Amino acid sequence: MDKILVTGGMGYIGSHTCLALLESGFEPVIFDNLSNSSAGVLQQIYTISGQVLSFVEGDIRDTALLKQVLIKHQCVAVIHFAALKAVGESTEQPHRYYDNNVGGTLSLLKAMEESAVRNIVFSSSATVYGDPDYIPIDERHPIRATNPYGWSKVMVEQILRDTCASKASWQAISLRYFNPVGAHDSGLLGENPMGMPNNLMPFIAQVAVGKREYLQVFGDDYPTDDGTGVRDYIHVMDLAAGHVQALQGKRGVKGFYAYNLGTGQGYSVLEMVNSFSKESGQAIPYRVADRRSGDIPCSYADPSLAQRELDWQASRDLTQMTADVWRWQSKYPMGI
Ligand code: NAD
Ligand code: WQD
Repeated sequence: MDKILVTGGMGYIGSHTCLALLESGFEPVIFDNLSNSSAGVLQQIYTISGQVLSFVEGDIRDTALLKQVLIKHQCVAVIHFAALKAVGESTEQPHRYYDNNVGGTLSLLKAMEESAVRNIVFSSSATVYGDPDYIPIDERHPIRATNPYGWSKVMVEQILRDTCASKASWQAISLRYFNPVGAHDSGLLGENPMGMPNNLMPFIAQVAVGKREYLQVFGDDYPTDDGTGVRDYIHVMDLAAGHVQALQGKRGVKGFYAYNLGTGQGYSVLEMVNSFSKESGQAIPYRVADRRSGDIPCSYADPSLAQRELDWQASRDLTQMTADVWRWQSKYPMGI
């Protein structure tokens, strides 16, 4: 069974991807410093899959430990989720973000180089398109950023491009996620934000379960149908499948590739609120507030390149996204 090192595998997207890897016959080895996740995730993965995963508690900036783990497990590839991801925090603590996200990736690439592992799938983001020039956004759209978190993704993509250009043996696949939401349909695994959620869906879920009083809708005067921001929300299990398809679909192909992972469909904040209210049967009180600094009006993907080259397409609709989040949130109102 091919072993895959999964950095950040205890986190939201990483943990769901571990389940998808197991289902496709890969053996994930998780490497995570638990800075934004809980060790309880391992038990949930075991309950769902019946598999006990290898887990190493460590920091990706520890090159020697990474190298030791890659060699010990004879990993054939790395899926690299480990990063700090709070946009607002990144503007206050840019050095911490660049050190963790860019420095951490350089450490990982060094460990891979020294242990002869040459395949990496990287968690990039639609944030690399900044405020987009056109919609739907395809992969030819210019790359830029509006905050240190976003720049860390742009920089890592460039590092991966340069790595592949310098040595023909390397393969790097950058997956640009749009807005990941949803949970495993068992209700046993989902997004487990520590403290105040930064993103819309976990915030709505916490209002629905009574943990927060109301949602603030950041702006209702955008040039969209109902005036609220529009995004391409994608189910985390569809996203997870995209990683498996990237490993399988590009097996043996060298070089750097980037793919959008989105549905191609945009929903407004109010459409998200209404969908969640319908699926959960709960009222979601909200108040319109000022626009959030740095927000863009509208973003959704042209996901056709991933469909053509990876044979991947999102299949879960908004109803399933909200139903799965509600199942998870109502089972674990305080998280795991
Ligand atoms: P998450 O915080 O739930 O998971 C990240 C994991 O990485 C956590 O378990 C954390 O403990 C770990 N980690 C962070 N720094 C580390 C380090 N130095 N060493 C070892 N482990 C470390 O986040 P997520 O939502 O699962 O995101 C995963 C990846 O996807 C990140 O790279 C993120 O930037 C990217 N991404 C996320 C979104 C989103 O909206 N969730 C969108 C686009 C891209
Ligand atoms: C979605 C919409 C908000 C919260 C961010 C990062 C991006 C990526 C995903 C990692 C917007 C509105 C939100 C709230 C609201 N992360 N909103 N009230 O901003 O598209 O992307 O997360 O790569 O880099 O920037 O996602 O979920 O924060 O917001 O009205 O309490 O919901 O204004 O229109 P966003 P989001």
